[in-house]
Amino acid sequence: MHRSALIPTLALIFCIHAASISQTSKKGISPKLAVTSKGKGSLEFKVDSVLKLMTLEEKIGQLNLLTSDLDQTGASMRPQYKEDIRKGKVGAIFNAYGVDYVRKLQKMAVEETRLKIPLLFGYDVIHGHKTIFPNPLAESCSWDLEAMEKSARIAAIEAASMGLDWTFAPMVDIARDPRWGRVMEGAGEDTYLGCLIAKARVTGFQGAKLSDPLSIMACAKHYAAYGAAQGGRDYNTVDISERSLRETYLPPFKAAADAGVATFMTSFNELNGIPATANKYLLDQILRKEWGYKGFVVTDYTAIMELLFHGYAADSVEAVKKSILAGADMDMQASMYDQRLPALVKKGAVPVSVIDESVRRVLLKKFELGLFANPYVRMDAEREKQNVFTTVNLTASREIAAKSMVLLKNDHNTLPLKLTAQKIALVGPLADAGRDMMGAWSAAGEWEKNVSLLKGMKGSFTSSQIEYKKGCEINDTVRSGFAEALTACSNSDVVVCALGEGAWQSGEAASRSDIRLPGVQEAFLAEVKKLGKPVVVVLFNGRPLDLTDVLPNADAILEAWYPGTMAGWAVSDVLAGVVNPSGKLTISFPRNVGQIPVYYNMKNTGRPFDANNKYSSKYLDVRNDPLFTFGFGLSYSTFLYSGPKLSTKSLGYKDTLRVTFTVKNTSTRDGEEIAQMYVQDMAGSVTRPVNELKGFQKVFIKAGETKTLVFKLTANDLRFYNEDMKFVAEKGLFTVKVGTCSDVTQSDEFELR
Ligand code: NOJ
Repeated sequence: MHRSALIPTLALIFCIHAASISQTSKKGISPKLAVTSKGKGSLEFKVDSVLKLMTLEEKIGQLNLLTSDLDQTGASMRPQYKEDIRKGKVGAIFNAYGVDYVRKLQKMAVEETRLKIPLLFGYDVIHGHKTIFPNPLAESCSWDLEAMEKSARIAAIEAASMGLDWTFAPMVDIARDPRWGRVMEGAGEDTYLGCLIAKARVTGFQGAKLSDPLSIMACAKHYAAYGAAQGGRDYNTVDISERSLRETYLPPFKAAADAGVATFMTSFNELNGIPATANKYLLDQILRKEWGYKGFVVTDYTAIMELLFHGYAADSVEAVKKSILAGADMDMQASMYDQRLPALVKKGAVPVSVIDESVRRVLLKKFELGLFANPYVRMDAEREKQNVFTTVNLTASREIAAKSMVLLKNDHNTLPLKLTAQKIALVGPLADAGRDMMGAWSAAGEWEKNVSLLKGMKGSFTSSQIEYKKGCEINDTVRSGFAEALTACSNSDVVVCALGEGAWQSGEAASRSDIRLPGVQEAFLAEVKKLGKPVVVVLFNGRPLDLTDVLPNADAILEAWYPGTMAGWAVSDVLAGVVNPSGKLTISFPRNVGQIPVYYNMKNTGRPFDANNKYSSKYLDVRNDPLFTFGFGLSYSTFLYSGPKLSTKSLGYKDTLRVTFTVKNTSTRDGEEIAQMYVQDMAGSVTRPVNELKGFQKVFIKAGETKTLVFKLTANDLRFYNEDMKFVAEKGLFTVKVGTCSDVTQSDEFELR
């Protein structure tokens, strides 16, 4: 590995100053040798030896994160920012990648600053870096933790090979409001599954150890409860109970912390009146004191400045004081620590010990990443050439995309399509879309490389089988393209209609109040259906849609989400039956917007839904249950569940309950099933949800074969925050349900004694 990349100046300084490290040096530092000379090996000791050399301004510089600009000629750095780097006023840069470019910036830091402390390079590597994987929400529908870890690992390898040390991912916000555009970045509505996915993604990004040149730091975001924004409006107010915070929204963050996530990012929202970025309760009490978290916390973009708009700070001085004292270590792009902290410390309003703690946390990560040993450790031009867009990466993207798709409807076995026998009309605004296939948050992705559905189908089927006509645009009112598309449909045996949202319609600042298909797509589909041909709808979108008017006009619906670079191949694999779909929804699809919030683990209420009783909890105009519930997804195979059998009906606090059931593949096709186990606590000191996911297994079952599955449950799995906010399992009756989704379940009961 490029030891030669260690710049001579720094290497020399490392040697010369080995003995005198405790003195302030004008030439730079040698933390590595300092440790040797003191005979102590801990990174904390190294951190302290650096800290001792730093002026207040240099310390505050380590807490400053600035963006590079991305313009048409590539990335660039504002002249003022360059000056700031040289003066040691910047600790980290984001939106800069590419070995040549970041090397130049790193060179400024390690050759031109007084202390030669290397920069950190961060970026939003959300679902792939160059090779784009399906959106995180899509991937979560695979319920395949290994696959998600692999996708994060590949993203990390590509990112690290292009000079990056740090990704602002995973987003672990529980999201139950499909109007919120950012649901596409998370793992859906369920906390149990969200925790497992958080761990898988952190492990994937960070690899075995941070010092590995192919590892990058992960960042659990957005801390906390960003997904509970009112009305699904981005950046909006969050007002939830302590119980809901701790039971639903915090556990995935805790899981990320337990998995060793190197950093946390604050969220834009306020939580019960206090903006998260300056929320001492969240950052200090829960994260650091209760969880013992040792990594550093970065704010979201200009969030410190936004405290003024929240009305939580009268001016920037107060905003800075509140943020740093709350425990926000690094300021992303507000430049407010840089501007206001020196004076606040000098006048004693912020103790220098607080600054020292934050700087320690940042420096520790720089040591762990190996940057002090070699500031160019992730800047190797050879690796950059070799590790990006490899066949292995592209193949993984294709496989994971196919696993992430959810078959929502398949009447009369419309799917899979026949490889040669049918004439297929491929219509719809997303049938030949390139850019949209990646969805949002794929900034480094190269959309020209994306495989459109048209290209994929022409490759996978016989090209002459396919006739393509667009029909309409994604989001306008023009119907003039309908006619020729309908003619193509009339001449075909089957129609594949590619509908959905534009990539820009989900992600940050992309909330929608109407989540039906945009534009005239529903009208177009209705016209197609009138022709009487079998219609397969393939959906590309980043959030659950209201499909109430799509459902009757489609014989089959494949929710493909945004599959990434290999979209067209992956969708064709499923349409052609090369891959038997196995994904299951991790977020409910409402019948209409008026039903929101709708999620599977709601409470029963004192008047549970009863279609025959007006005075039960319901609407006059729509049912209570979602159109497609959490855990739902079809396969080309069919499965039959029997059981469960419980190993005991009376569970002691130290015992383990074994829940056994069988799943038979009753079809003639091999397939994978995600078998799910839910528990309902029938009565407690606090009311409990009607269903809680407590386990799942993804199993491959051959045609005609029966598999026996065993799930284990202990009292630990039954804990919740009781009336005194103690996390305990209470004695009493529980129902265990097993099945193919959250509302088709077979059950039995046991007692916790
Ligand atoms: C704002 C977003 O909320 C956050 O998720 C992202 O990481 C930062 N911008 C940096 O791009």
